[in-house]
Amino acid sequence: MIIDPAQLDTLSVYKLLVGAVVPRPIAWVSSRSRDGILNLAPFSFFTVASREPPMLALSIGPRTGGESYPKDTLTNLREQQQFVINIVSVSLANAMHETSMNHLPDVDEFVRAGVTPVRCEVVDVPRVAEAKISMECSVEHMLKLGSDYLVIGRMLRYHVQDELLSDGRIDILGLDPLGRMAGNFTRIESLFDLPLNDS
Ligand SMILES: Cc1cc2nc3c(=O)[nH]c(=O)nc-3n(C[C@H](O)[C@H](O)[C@H](O)COP(=O)(O)O)c2cc1C
Repeated sequence: MIIDPAQLDTLSVYKLLVGAVVPRPIAWVSSRSRDGILNLAPFSFFTVASREPPMLALSIGPRTGGESYPKDTLTNLREQQQFVINIVSVSLANAMHETSMNHLPDVDEFVRAGVTPVRCEVVDVPRVAEAKISMECSVEHMLKLGSDYLVIGRMLRYHVQDELLSDGRIDILGLDPLGRMAGNFTRIESLFDLPLNDS
């Protein structure tokens, strides 16, 4: 089957994208509003964008309820130019999910999610204490790309739980990262090397 996305409506194209690009990691983004309200929200349109200097990319879409104002994360990143990406372990899945709801901008989403804000080193935005990995970022570029905004963040500090790091490598099974599929989620249950054995 060959599909021309130009012949489809937006939702159908979205379904094809999120079913093909799987599993996706989740950036759990902390940010602060102009009024000092703390915000958290998950973004699975997320990846590494540069190794040196280290940069990360995420894509923020429009609100789905028909509202014309931007998502709080986009507003905060535009205004404050800084944010933190926290990695979601499976143990944090429910807390992360709570922050994907359409909360009003005056709601502190750390409180709503029941997670602990901890001061960062160089950005004036807290990280999630319960996250095993967090990355402090400044906004390097913000690009309007079709319906979405592509945000490139420069990673300024890397926080990692001590037990997770050995010989400079992350213990992936210890991290137990939550993956986003199309509508549902996955976790890593096995790791293997290539080539696979025939047996
Ligand atoms: C696992 C997961 C991944 C998501 N990924 C994205 C994404 O990549 N881009 C996006 O715009 N919204 C994404 N969303 C929806 C936002 O998290 C949601 O719109 C949230 O309310 C935005 O919050 P904010 O207004 O506080 O920024 C995702 C939701 C979930 C549960």
